[in-house]
Amino acid sequence: MKVTQAILPVAGLGTRFLPWTKVVPKELLPIGNKPIIGLLVDECLSVGIDDICFVISRGKEAIPQYFYEMPELEAELDSRGKLHMLEDLKRYDNVKFHVVYQQEMKGDGHALLHAADWIKSDMVAVLFGDDLIHGKQNGLQQLVAAYDHLPEGEKPAMLCLQDVPREAVSKYGIVDIDFDHPQHHERLKKIKGMVEKPKPEHAPSTFGIVGKYIIPRNLFRILQTLEKGSHGGEVRLIDALIAELGTMHVYGYVFEGHRLDTGTPEGYKEAVQVLG
Ligand code: UTP
Repeated sequence: MKVTQAILPVAGLGTRFLPWTKVVPKELLPIGNKPIIGLLVDECLSVGIDDICFVISRGKEAIPQYFYEMPELEAELDSRGKLHMLEDLKRYDNVKFHVVYQQEMKGDGHALLHAADWIKSDMVAVLFGDDLIHGKQNGLQQLVAAYDHLPEGEKPAMLCLQDVPREAVSKYGIVDIDFDHPQHHERLKKIKGMVEKPKPEHAPSTFGIVGKYIIPRNLFRILQTLEKGSHGGEVRLIDALIAELGTMHVYGYVFEGHRLDTGTPEGYKEAVQVLG
């Protein structure tokens, strides 16, 4: 199975980084000489995805702009002989970028719905803006490799999982595990249920969903149905996955490596230390 498209929802307000997220999207924070969003796009390229849709909100146009070609700047660098810089700038020339606007922040599923008409393939990767996995392989490489272990013909959803401390489960969507997939150590798990932000005593496991997914296009129909019934409230991806559990297989892969949550000032600081 080859995934060629990815949605990157980055419309959020970034309130934890206020006041400066009034003017600079948190996804453009640098880690070394690259912004976080550059690392996420590189994660897509590393698995052969070359068609990317950003879901942004007004004021976050600098995110797609970072990837656009700048012929005048390129000509200038060329004339000054700064070829290594030119190479870096041209890195994204063959990637197709698409932008849609989410006007109101009504949840992760609501953000995804804005990209529904853009999807052409059966499966699409989804990377939310905050999570980076530091290890031998990035998060998406691990999800794609795990996906390839699944039976031919299935079009399941694949979620990225982390074993979190029980006292932290109320910050995550937590999965209920059916069984461990026999051919993939204990990292690949068949999922039979999910609960959003449960209390520690009610959590069916300690495996939390982190911001990377491969999902089938069909799921967008469910998101549309949920939106109709939401009466202007939040539309959540986890609710669409729960609604489809009877008809669609859902797997989770417990990533190898260290997760860096760049969505908080402390997590960002750690990411700079580890990756910068
Ligand atoms: P968060 O819940 O972390 O929100 O969203 P946020 O706005 O980014 O940050 P805080 O909490 O205000 O500090 C997780 C991811 O989902 C995207 C965000 O951009 C982020 O990548 N998102 C969330 C949307 O694109 N739209 C939404 O309606 C909600």
